[in-house]
Amino acid sequence: MQDRCVSASKALGVSSIELSAPRPHSATVRMPGDKSISHRAFMCASIADGESSIVGANAGADVRATVDALRALGASIRGDISSAMHVRGIRDFRTPGSALDCGNSGSTMRMLAGLIAGRVDATLDGDASLRRRPMERVTYPLRMMGADVKTTNGKPPLKLRASPQPLRGAAITLPVASAQVKSAVLFAALRAQGPTVVTEPAHTRDHTERMLRSMGASLDVNGNSIAVQPSLLKPLADYRVPGDFSAAFFFIAGAVVLPGSNLRLENLGMNPTRIAALDVLRAMGADIEIMDTREDHGEAIGDVVVRGGRDLRNAAIEAEQIPNLIDEIPALCTLAAAAGIDFEVRNASDLRTKESDRLATTVRLLRAFGAIAEELPDGISIGSGRRLRAPERVTTEGDHRIGMSAAILGLATRSRITIDDTDCIATSFPNFSDVWRSAFY
Ligand code: S3P
Repeated sequence: MQDRCVSASKALGVSSIELSAPRPHSATVRMPGDKSISHRAFMCASIADGESSIVGANAGADVRATVDALRALGASIRGDISSAMHVRGIRDFRTPGSALDCGNSGSTMRMLAGLIAGRVDATLDGDASLRRRPMERVTYPLRMMGADVKTTNGKPPLKLRASPQPLRGAAITLPVASAQVKSAVLFAALRAQGPTVVTEPAHTRDHTERMLRSMGASLDVNGNSIAVQPSLLKPLADYRVPGDFSAAFFFIAGAVVLPGSNLRLENLGMNPTRIAALDVLRAMGADIEIMDTREDHGEAIGDVVVRGGRDLRNAAIEAEQIPNLIDEIPALCTLAAAAGIDFEVRNASDLRTKESDRLATTVRLLRAFGAIAEELPDGISIGSGRRLRAPERVTTEGDHRIGMSAAILGLATRSRITIDDTDCIATSFPNFSDVWRSAFY
């Protein structure tokens, strides 16, 4: 019988996860479906010409917010999200009866804005964290295409009004490297009049491009520019969502810092625009193997095997790698602090606009464990030479990726620790504490 070394509890409406000293062993785990791909699959399927089936989507609150919003817009989506969902595409969206609640999910709000811009009257709103996040980055290119979309001082709620004319294709240069914004423009371009060319300042994750191509859209990529013609989409037939690399990275980092652990992560999305953090780990000297790579619907998939306990060394992150490891920065900094190495992240000021100000929340988390960690205007600096010690309790500050980083520190310090305010972890990983237990306890 499993001992009760990890337990999730909920008292007075505040959830927490309790961890005790880990027991390193060999284990095989599977991650939830990739969150980025799941959002895109439901959005693309909802405008496709026919019925799509989506298997193994991410069942977290963020993707559920996308599904609920699409249903409120008239899409027919049936089934069980963590096994198979059937989506019947629609030609025209229905005006929703109330504001669409995007919850904590920036992906839902920004990409949905592009999907529906010009086509229906709708208000997109979200929770307190989402209401603090910048939205002009997505409304500005949509306005260039003729959409009537307003923010509230640059933040949510977004108010969109249907246009009498279709949107116009345009040549758009994005000021921020954001896959969500790029995707919003690509979605809007599918029903615009004339071609659209979107140019991004750095190459961001390209799941949308791969998915649209697999659905028959006419799309050409040239460097950092993507040209797209108005296109009808074929449905997604038996689309199997790969495991989420960003969720996996907490487990990979955990296994790296825990001597004696030997972890296999099966069926992971290995899209090259997502896995730059693996290159950094390898440059640090971590023992990581990629196995059984294959391809499905244009996405690379593979297994990753990690063996813990190697001494690590400092490694540099290049500016152009940042968009391809943006969500892994809290875990990378955590791993560096746990390994006792010097480490610096720069060119990452966009982390201040995530679910929390992740430069600030990551530094606070690391300092709570006694690490030498400094917040820089655009990054974080970690100093070597401190032995970390676990406090009795830490908080996620409402950010799932800070909560999962705290779990890595629990492993590294081999201590009993309580992580508070862990409800947010369910935005991306509903059964995180069970899978964490099977990997390390
Ligand atoms: C995402 C893109 C990134 C990432 C977010 C998911 C996506 O955000 O941080 O977690 O699915 O396209 P930005 O587009 O804001 O850079």
